[in-house]
Amino acid sequence: MLSQRHRIHILAHGLSYGSCEWHLFPVAAPPAVSAEERPGPARCPVGRRELGHDGFVTERASAGQPNTAPSAVSPAVSPIMLQDARLPGGGQARPAGGPLRVSAKAGTFTESVIREMTRLCLAHDGINLAQGFPDFPCPAELKEAAKAAIDADDNQYAITWGAKAFRRAIAAKVARTYPGWTVDPETEICVTCGSTEAMIATMLALVDPGEEVLLFEPFYENYGPDTILSGARPKFVPLHGPDWSIDEAQLRAAFSDRVRAVVINTPHNPTGKVFTRAELELIAELCQRHDALVFTDEIYEHIQYLGPGGHIPPATVPGLADRTVTINALSKTYAVTGWRVGWTIAPPAYTAAIRKVHDFLTVGAAAPLQAGGAAAMALPSSYYDSIVTDYLERRDLLCGALAAAGFHFRPPDGAYYVMCDTRSFDPDGDDVAFARRLLETVGVASVPGSSFFNEPAYGRHIIRFAFPKRLDTLRAAAQRLAILA
Ligand SMILES: Cc1ncc(COP(=O)(O)O)c(C=O)c1O
Repeated sequence: MLSQRHRIHILAHGLSYGSCEWHLFPVAAPPAVSAEERPGPARCPVGRRELGHDGFVTERASAGQPNTAPSAVSPAVSPIMLQDARLPGGGQARPAGGPLRVSAKAGTFTESVIREMTRLCLAHDGINLAQGFPDFPCPAELKEAAKAAIDADDNQYAITWGAKAFRRAIAAKVARTYPGWTVDPETEICVTCGSTEAMIATMLALVDPGEEVLLFEPFYENYGPDTILSGARPKFVPLHGPDWSIDEAQLRAAFSDRVRAVVINTPHNPTGKVFTRAELELIAELCQRHDALVFTDEIYEHIQYLGPGGHIPPATVPGLADRTVTINALSKTYAVTGWRVGWTIAPPAYTAAIRKVHDFLTVGAAAPLQAGGAAAMALPSSYYDSIVTDYLERRDLLCGALAAAGFHFRPPDGAYYVMCDTRSFDPDGDDVAFARRLLETVGVASVPGSSFFNEPAYGRHIIRFAFPKRLDTLRAAAQRLAILA
């Protein structure tokens, strides 16, 4: 049987938001796939084929298992698998190639599949539930502050690591939101061009070539390329469905003194997982033992459905304060993904290194938009309550439509994505072809699951929908999806 029906009670802020019947991911083992059946690696964010010829090595380390190729296809039941991608280098001969040769690093990953789906969606006049950007307005306060800054001719470079007023506002908001967490705006914050730049600047500043960075899989597609661009090697640790939990033995086996950092993303894109205190404490223990850092992407910090205290910033967990870089941005919480304003919070020595790298990468984020950011930080707590209520309504609408259409999934605890099992529609498991068909025939864009896995086969029965959309947009998508029922 592929699915179970469960009654799920949604609780947020101590209130019951109702109950719905939704399908969950299957928990039975999926059939094994042969190497020939597996989709090729060209869609893989950290591809392998491109590197095979010139020294790329993929290893599998695991808790008590020999190194073997993957034999199962569902992340819900991922076998023990830790992969280790290695770049060529260390004095090896240059890869052959003519004037059009690109760098070995650039050759190791592909274009963003998510942004490619957005381009396809435009071409097909589809409803874009692929890329996670809102189609509703941002709070007026941000726009007013940014417009006022432009009118006041705030047009020149801000301090490279961020305008003082914005850094102060970030520190004040952190102290209000998480009592006991104090951040020094003078030495512990670097304002960046979105959390995307924050992550790559952090890796370039704090990770050395040859070191390893642990990535939980499935992952947000930027982390693999970020690791490779910083010269390090990504090593993948599976999250296990249906609740996307960590297997302690696997995580312990993945850690060694070669590991420089572990990337956490909580709430998590694409699964909707919110890391638990116990998981963060385990990570703290292992980071202390192996002198590793945590790079935590908390761009969905306020979009979580577990109620107050549901989201725990790793920097507040004992043992992690002095070894955590917290990455955040205006993009999601304030519905301004196009503004490209983010920041890092880290101990002074790490912040100094991140600031240097950031200066040479981008110089700084747009000055008038940082004024908008300061206004965002001053919004009252009622703003954050209201976005949770709004996102719950959007989540429930989309989940209801997906369940009615016949998809199987676990409703997310946080962020704004739903990972769906496609087996009932696409038993052969070609996620890319299925996502294309869905766009071309139903008119709804999604993201093929393989873009969230190093081994594409693990995502072949998955597609991801995003719901940061107006209710009207989601209703229109629901109508189109109803054809599938
Ligand atoms: C987990 C995660 N981190 C970072 C980003 C990108 O953030 P920004 O727009 O601030 O660069 C996204 C966008 O979807 C995301 O899902």
